[in-house]
Amino acid sequence: MAGRGCKIMGKVEIKNISRIFRKEGAPETLALDNISLKINDKEFICFVGPSGCGKTTLLRIIAGLDTPDSGEIILDGEKISIPDSKRGMVFQEYSLFPWRTVIENIIFGPEMKGIPKKEAIQEAEKYLELVGLTQFRDSFPYELSGGMRQRVAIARALANEPEVLLMDEPFGALDAQTRNSLQHQLLDIWNKKHITILFVTHSVDEAVFLADRIVVMTARPGKIKKIIDVDLPRPRIRTSPEANKLRTEVLKLLSEERKEKID
Ligand SMILES: Nc1ncnc2c1ncn2[C@@H]1O[C@H](COP(=O)(O)OP(=O)(O)OP(=O)(O)O)[C@@H](O)[C@H]1O
Ligand SMILES: [Mg+2]
Repeated sequence: MAGRGCKIMGKVEIKNISRIFRKEGAPETLALDNISLKINDKEFICFVGPSGCGKTTLLRIIAGLDTPDSGEIILDGEKISIPDSKRGMVFQEYSLFPWRTVIENIIFGPEMKGIPKKEAIQEAEKYLELVGLTQFRDSFPYELSGGMRQRVAIARALANEPEVLLMDEPFGALDAQTRNSLQHQLLDIWNKKHITILFVTHSVDEAVFLADRIVVMTARPGKIKKIIDVDLPRPRIRTSPEANKLRTEVLKLLSEERKEKID
């Protein structure tokens, strides 16, 4: 299913987004410099780029958690400014409520929306099954491994039934094996739930394995350096010559960014 969604209507439009951080007595930081990108419905987009190039800032703006200095985000043809349940976010750091059990973490969003607890729990149990954690339903986050915690975070985001899932290095802190297995699970979920995914990663291997398109960003100020179509059939073979070729291309683009900043 390479290039899935390419002919379907645009889902998210990032239009001329710039973001400057200002602090008194310090030089201002231009984090994002005029980013524009149209994302198709049900597309899987990966963003890669040097640390500090504005990837998290961009996702936060798309989520409605931060406001750009210029530009706008269009979702289904309408400008967005505040968070809503159409967009779910999985953060860079583990972000579960430590005082709530797994199931209580997952029902948090639906409860906030006023869905009766019993109904919210029934729904949450489906998501718990989807991420393979049914038997940890009543555990607290401290009783779980890192990979399990991230799966709960994904289930919690999915429980709000988002149409767009924003994921900021969700597997960054995990060992390689857990990471590979969660990548498979995420593709499964993406197929079952028909959502659009915007996924930030530092792993080029991960981007080539997951994405329909890889957006390579420049070092700060973050701009789009190149957009690469990953036209490989799924399930993808990480060791295939085609995957290798793409990895080499992305790594070269990233190393150019490192050189420019060091030289
Ligand atoms: N709330 C803030 N206040 C001031 N500066 C900020 C704020 N958030 C981000 N920045 C700055 O904006 C730039 C981009 O930060 P951001 O966190 O978006 O980068 P990133 O690409 O996600 O980096 P990493 O790969 O390390 O996670 C950095 O220079 C950072 O210091
Ligand atoms: Mg970040």
